[in-house]
Parts: sequence; C-alpha cells; structure tokens
Amino acid sequence: MTEPVLAVSGLSSGYGQATVIRNLDLEIGRGEIVAMVGKNGMGKSTLLKSIMGYLPKFSGSVSMAQHAISDSRPHQIARLGVAYVPQEKALFQDLTVEENICLAMRGSASWDETKATIARCFPFLLQRLQQKAGTLSGGEQKMLLMARSLSVGAKVLLIDEISEGMQPSIISNLVKIIKTERDRSGLGVLLVEQNIPFTRAVSDRYVLLDKGEISGSGNTRDPDTHEKIAAHISL
Ligand SMILES: Nc1ncnc2c1ncn2[C@@H]1O[C@H](COP(=O)(O)OP(=O)(O)OP(=O)(O)O)[C@@H](O)[C@H]1O
Ligand SMILES: [Mg+2]
Repeated sequence: MTEPVLAVSGLSSGYGQATVIRNLDLEIGRGEIVAMVGKNGMGKSTLLKSIMGYLPKFSGSVSMAQHAISDSRPHQIARLGVAYVPQEKALFQDLTVEENICLAMRGSASWDETKATIARCFPFLLQRLQQKAGTLSGGEQKMLLMARSLSVGAKVLLIDEISEGMQPSIISNLVKIIKTERDRSGLGVLLVEQNIPFTRAVSDRYVLLDKGEISGSGNTRDPDTHEKIAAHISL
C-alpha cells in the first residue's frame, strides 16, 4: 500500500459505557477503495461516526496523512479533507439542491469547480438545482449527498451503505463514478456495505467487521471473495 491517507490505530469507541468498536486497526491508502462488510449492528456506522469525531474515542488514535485527528471536531476533520456520506438522511429537506451543496462547500472549491464535478458525476442534478432536496427520491438524495462530498475536494471519503435500496443500474453507475473520481484525484475511500456485488465491483480490498472487531480481510479480486463475504454476512 502507498502511504496511508487515513490510519486508525487501536481504536475503541461507543456510546456512554457501551464499547462498540474494539481495538480496531485500519489503514486506507491514497487512491485505495476499501470496503468494510458486516451484518446489522456490528458497528459499521459507529466506526465512521467515530472517525468523523461525532463520537468520543475511548482509546486509540486516528490520523490523516500522519496528522493526528483523534481529538478534532467534526468540522475540523471535514476541513482537513475527510468527506462523509452518512447512512441516515442528512440533507436540509427544505433547502434547494444548490443550497445543500453550497452549505457543504465552506469555501473549499469555487462554484465553477463544483458545477464541473456535478456535471461529470451526476448531471441530472444540474437540472434540479432549484428543486427542494426533500422532493428528490431516496436514491436521488443519496446521489446529492455523494455530489456534495465529491465537491469539497476531499482526500478521504467515508460512505455508509449507499447502495441500500438502490436499483442495480444506479449502483453500476455509482461504481464507475467512485472509481473515476479515485483515479482523477487519488481519493481514498472507506465504504461500509452489505451488498456483495457492489462491494466486489467497487473495492480493491475488503475487511470483515464482527462485533466491532475485524475478523477477516482479503483482496477483492481473490477468487473466494464472494464466498467469504457471503459466509460472514449470513452467519
Ligand atoms: N445512539 C446510540 N446509542 C446507543 N447505542 C447505539 C447507538 N447507535 C447504535 N448503537 C448500538 O451500537 C451497535 C452498533 O450499531 P451501528 O449502527 O454502528 O451498526 P451498523 O453495523 O452500522 O448496523 P446497520 O447495518 O444496521 O446500519 C448496535 O448494537 C447499536 O444498537
Ligand atoms: Mg449502519
């Protein structure tokens, strides 16, 4: 692997007294797409929220290109270049598509650059800039969340189960977009998933999460990938 853009070391985190993520180590290289696969309730979203600084870390550390971000606030982590596409709805439903995108930009890119990103990745949104985000379909709202994350010039993208409830044709398009953006900018991507075809199509490497711990990993091109992931999520 090239120099990691994101490194998680010995991380434990959770809610109140409850530990969910246990002593977890994970590195994402520049331009690397890593999938984390695990059943419901295993801690996938908790890990992403902990990396983003939304949850306190009980122990361990998180760094970005060797810059410690363990104690940073979510907006500082975002400013350093970590973009996050959460699992739950995270758009301002009563604001327009354009307003939702502008709020995420925080001066990190010009509107022209942002429009170019949208035109390249999600051109349908250009016709919808003045539409209220809440009137987009569920799948379209996820596209808007992706567009918003790709517009900020991120170095690392964290994506939480984006394929949930999406049509296969939209998923294939998403695979192309994520890989193209990775190739263009060397973006590192950590995506948490339960969808095996999407995981296989998009990622370079996968790790299996079991009760907050990594219980297996592999190169996605290995011939036994489908079998290993299927066994893990249907246990
Ligand atoms: N706000 C919270 N307060 C307390 N416990 C929580 C909270 N959110 C999640 N948990 C617990 O933490 C554990 C991990 O939840 P998490 O949402 O990270 O799982 P997940 O792997 O993302 O699952 P899913 O695939 O269903 O999204 C679960 O036992 C869950 O009940
Ligand atoms: Mg989740």
